Amino acid sequence: MARATTHYVCSGCGHESAKWHGRCPGCEEWSTLVEEARPTPVPAAGGGARIAARGKALTPVPLAQVEAPRVARLRTGIGELDRVLGGGLVPGSLVLLGGSPGIGKSTIVTSALGNLAASGRKALYVSGEESAAQVRLRAERLGEAALQVPIVAETDLEAVVATIEAERPDVCVVDSVQVLHAAALTGGPGSVGQVREVAGRLMRVAKERGVAIVLVGHVTKEGALAGPRVLEHLVDCVLSFEGERERTYRTLRALKNRFGSTNEAGVFEMRDEGLVEVEDASARFVAEATRGAAGSVILCAMEGSRPLLVEVQALVASTELVPPRRMANGIDRNRLALVLAVLTRHTGISIAGADVFVSLAGGVRIDEPGADLAVALAVASAATGTALGNGRQPLAAFGELSLTGELRHAAHPDRRLAEAAKFGLTQVLHPGAVLPDLRTALASALDRSVGQSRAA
Ligand SMILES: Nc1ncnc2c1ncn2[C@@H]1O[C@H](COP(=O)(O)OP(=O)(O)OP(=O)(O)O)[C@@H](O)[C@H]1O
Ligand SMILES: [Mg+2]
Repeated sequence: MARATTHYVCSGCGHESAKWHGRCPGCEEWSTLVEEARPTPVPAAGGGARIAARGKALTPVPLAQVEAPRVARLRTGIGELDRVLGGGLVPGSLVLLGGSPGIGKSTIVTSALGNLAASGRKALYVSGEESAAQVRLRAERLGEAALQVPIVAETDLEAVVATIEAERPDVCVVDSVQVLHAAALTGGPGSVGQVREVAGRLMRVAKERGVAIVLVGHVTKEGALAGPRVLEHLVDCVLSFEGERERTYRTLRALKNRFGSTNEAGVFEMRDEGLVEVEDASARFVAEATRGAAGSVILCAMEGSRPLLVEVQALVASTELVPPRRMANGIDRNRLALVLAVLTRHTGISIAGADVFVSLAGGVRIDEPGADLAVALAVASAATGTALGNGRQPLAAFGELSLTGELRHAAHPDRRLAEAAKFGLTQVLHPGAVLPDLRTALASALDRSVGQSRAA
């Protein structure tokens, strides 16, 4: 009888089995068996000792003698994307681009391929999710360059690999990795075994042929990349497209990058003509910021190596609900809980019996502790009904809060201050401005404010 080409391996203990079991016979965990292609057996040389080495011994070479030709990066022509990638796509690399449905993954990759094709690079778009006609409709929105991108609509992995081998593009986009299907495995597209096999095959093609491959990936309801964790280990770069679909601003971040920093972030805006880079996001956010209203503070944040000014808005409203609501938009919910606890404990501002809503303007998400002070001041301002700032210009702040109510240093204070100065914000509260703790910072903010207190 022919030997089966696949077998089932437990992702927990590594137990191998010819048949699928709901519960692993090895470690007795449920649903851990994953279908894998069976490795081709290598015959033992000479039939000598059982543990005789089967391969040819290699000669290790000092790293200094390894030849590493400097390859030029492939610039996508989208400045923010190139920056997040660390200067452009590296030939032969595998990039995973994840993001929630409708965020604009297909849009950004189509624009990037269009620009690359226009600059004389060979591009290929493999669409598994949408028909070629659907992709064309999107490309019409994006302009003439995008319409020149060669496309195949295919979900069979073998056909896709054969096409890449035959076409030898410089850059290939696979939209998405979850819909490609390896016929050798019985699991449905998107299953753990399938995604692992698809990514593994594409990685080999990418490395052997020097093709930069961008895999578009789905995210789960919780926001993590769908599929096995090994997918993130396998690829060279993991990009995440974040933001809320109904808001215009979206941020692109690198979660992992073997060829560059993971601190960079790009800001985009979805428009009729596609995703447009927002090069000077601070200017927008400061111009749109509310003036003279309680509950608004400008946060001097860092998006990687770039400073960003963004408005923090807070609303404190009394409620009958027990426990009251704590809603955070654009900042971590647990971080908000911590800031509220420090605020009530160390400044005496009471928010018990009140719902607290905190939101960053424009759908931006900031994940750095340097946001604490601005959030605390915005909530205090909303709770006391006092507008901060001098009426003409809003108050800006940054700094981390410790559990004891002290202000802690935040990274790159000089860059944050320079950005604030650039947009005419002279009132900036930060740990470096002789502010030891939150109580002093709040007193200082309230002192400078000209707003009317509406508190009872
Ligand atoms: N004419 C338009 N003007 C502005 N925005 C548009 C227009 N048409 C589509 N969009 C936006 O583009 C988004 C869809 O983008 P895209 O198809 O690139 O997302 P995606 O991340 O690939 O989604 P999926 O996960 O479904 O593949 C829509 O959610 C919508 O916000
Ligand atoms: Mg898409």
